[in-house]
Amino acid sequence: MQPNDPIFVAGCRGLVGSAIVRRLQTAGFTNLLLPGRSELDLTDQAAVNAYFIAHQPSHLFLAAAKVGGILANSTYPADFIYSNLVIQNNVIDAALRHGVRKLAFLGSSCIYPRMAPQPIKEEYLLTGPLEPTNEWYAIAKIAGIKLCQAYRKQYGFDAISLMPTNLYGPGDNFDLQNSHVLPAMIRKFHEAKVAGAENVLLWGTGSPLREFLHVDDLADAAVFLMQNYSDEGIVNVGVGQDISIADLATIVADVVGFAGEIVYDTSKPDGTPRKLLDVSRLNSLGWQASIPLREGVAETYQWYESRDCAA
Ligand SMILES: NC(=O)c1ccc[n+]([C@@H]2O[C@H](COP(=O)([O-])OP(=O)(O)OC[C@H]3O[C@@H](n4cnc5c(N)ncnc54)[C@H](OP(=O)(O)O)[C@@H]3O)[C@@H](O)[C@H]2O)c1
Repeated sequence: MQPNDPIFVAGCRGLVGSAIVRRLQTAGFTNLLLPGRSELDLTDQAAVNAYFIAHQPSHLFLAAAKVGGILANSTYPADFIYSNLVIQNNVIDAALRHGVRKLAFLGSSCIYPRMAPQPIKEEYLLTGPLEPTNEWYAIAKIAGIKLCQAYRKQYGFDAISLMPTNLYGPGDNFDLQNSHVLPAMIRKFHEAKVAGAENVLLWGTGSPLREFLHVDDLADAAVFLMQNYSDEGIVNVGVGQDISIADLATIVADVVGFAGEIVYDTSKPDGTPRKLLDVSRLNSLGWQASIPLREGVAETYQWYESRDCAA
């Protein structure tokens, strides 16, 4: 990518898309194509093709998707598989047909088998059953990976696929109905502190181990791979370390300033016992995550507070 290349960031208003926009701007890329959903609905194939013809992007980050937590996935399975399949098909096919030179597809670590050995290597893809609660979404993402690989094989199209671990950061979704665990914790501890509550109730036992990557690190890795990696092999993007939900809760409570008790509702599901990505492929390419978890949580809480105050 050259500084004035027309770079299309699909999903530019989302958690990942907005971080990629920030990273590209700080790196001096000045010709960014940033249509929001109201300007371009990516499920509308004709509109997508018309946009590519009109704007001729040279590079593309596909960070648009229908994303949600366990509740949303199990309530709207049809929407999760259909919308994501259509978005991916429309954008990846249009990119090929209208001369995009390179595309980076954002998948997710939910593509891997529920009981994959830990840490999870890229080659564990399609070696066992998926986590049932989000299999619809995972299948769509696996289809996106295969679409990129098939277009590379048949047309020599330079599409790469990134598999990020759990992400967090400014721009995250803090809605307790369908947010991920870290933003949900920030909100629960903040509201408990403000209300002077004696304790906060968290789902599960606190023992599951999870990996969290700050979204600005992910954006840095995405730009790094766009500039330095061209191969059919998918690439895990993570920190390479995990933390128990209980230890995470202690960090978040401390950052927020909640001094009360943390109580666990063990009648609620824990999900898979551990989910840690093997990031040795990415590290061997010369990239490492740089934002420590506590620092990232503090920065995200600052963003949340400024947003919360603004609300
Ligand atoms: N969040 C995570 O922890 C995580 C972890 C691993 C991988 N990922 C991957 O990262 C990608 C982005 O996720 P995210 O967390 O950034 O999600 P997000 O915050 O929900 O962003 C998704 C973006 O896609 C846009 N979009 C959805 N449907 C669209 C459509 N039909 N037309 C146009 N735009 C549409 C949304 O537009 P609106 O703003 O209008 O809704 C939103 O801006 C996904 O592929 C996901 O698999 C995320």
